Amino acid sequence: MVDYVVYGRGCFNQLDEILAPRRKDGAPMIFLLDHYFENDAAFKARIPLRSNDMLVIADVTHEPKTSYIDELSQMLKDKFGSVSGVIGIGGGSTMDLAKAVAIMMNNPGKAQDYQGWDLVKYPSVYKAGIPTLSGTGAEVSRTTVLTGPTRKLGMNSDFTPFDQVVLDPELIKNAPADQRFYTGMDCFIHCIESLKGTFINEFSRSYGEKAQDLCEEVFLHKDKWDEESDEKLMMASFAGGMSIAYSQVGVAHAVSYGLGYLLGTKHGIGNCIVFNHLQEFYPEGVETFHKMVKKNNIFIPEGITKGLTDDEFNKMIDVSLGMAPLWENALGKDWQTIMTREKLRALYEKL
Ligand SMILES: NC(=O)c1ccc[n+]([C@@H]2O[C@H](COP(=O)([O-])OP(=O)(O)OC[C@H]3O[C@@H](n4cnc5c(N)ncnc54)[C@H](O)[C@@H]3O)[C@@H](O)[C@H]2O)c1
Ligand SMILES: [Fe+2]
Repeated sequence: MVDYVVYGRGCFNQLDEILAPRRKDGAPMIFLLDHYFENDAAFKARIPLRSNDMLVIADVTHEPKTSYIDELSQMLKDKFGSVSGVIGIGGGSTMDLAKAVAIMMNNPGKAQDYQGWDLVKYPSVYKAGIPTLSGTGAEVSRTTVLTGPTRKLGMNSDFTPFDQVVLDPELIKNAPADQRFYTGMDCFIHCIESLKGTFINEFSRSYGEKAQDLCEEVFLHKDKWDEESDEKLMMASFAGGMSIAYSQVGVAHAVSYGLGYLLGTKHGIGNCIVFNHLQEFYPEGVETFHKMVKKNNIFIPEGITKGLTDDEFNKMIDVSLGMAPLWENALGKDWQTIMTREKLRALYEKL
């Protein structure tokens, strides 16, 4: 779990104080800032840079690749030897980058060596996460999702969660409605997949139900988006992340990872594209999802796998079926007899 959490409108202003006790002599704090804020001078001026601290603009044009993690961590090792910490400020991609770079500062080899479950050997340097989009739960989860040379898979480990998160609803207020929806639906889908999964337990249920309620409040029951919506969505993301920390995601994520790997489809929108067609697995959740899409007037792409070759379908199927824990959570121990390659191919063709 995350060790320290601050929440509240304006709490970003406490960052300097929060980091002060974590600073080590001569070793800088590294601020990884989502490129969305690259030209936002006013926001950048609020980042508490001290002495040899470094502000690195995180290129999140593509979701994090292991090669980018290696590049960033090597750059920091060459330049500073060691650092006091890595602070990720941005969407889920930037938070994942920060987690992975912090891990690689203290672990040998390449980031791709740690894609999987409990492979990270040593604790990371200090790391903090400051979300500017809400929904992924990356601020609380024990994974950081990376695309490597052979697969899209997280570094799932006890060393992956942040030491500190700073949850300031003011930071998400300018997110465009469609991006906010796609990322927000990641949270809603986490809840459905966790609550309807076979790994469910009271820990996950307590958080998952709350997060689902909050998502439905902001995307379905409120008639306009306001400050309260940002506050609720930020807590939904947190609780949704807590829910999957003790269970797993399911079909939408397993299928969406294949799309992400082959086509570069982004996580939030990819999950929406898949979930849109998952009535068979999550009938009530998908019905509510359809209502939310309609109410918020959001475009969900269709036909994105049209014209792909057999090889390409097979690649997506391989990536997807490689996510055994997700399928087991969704369909039970005999998932392989239920989700055959043929059935999964038919599902991909529908997207
Ligand atoms: N670690 C986990 O547990 C976990 C869980 C789910 C998803 N993820 C990862 O999170 C990523 C998706 O995150 P996301 O949906 O937050 O999107 P994102 O981080 O990929 O960002 C999407 C776009 O929004 C921009 N952006 C960021 N903040 C903004 C703001 N306040 N206003 C406007 N634009 C802003 C970014 O620059 C980017 O162009 C994927 O890489 C996915 O794999 C991780
Ligand atoms: Fe997700």
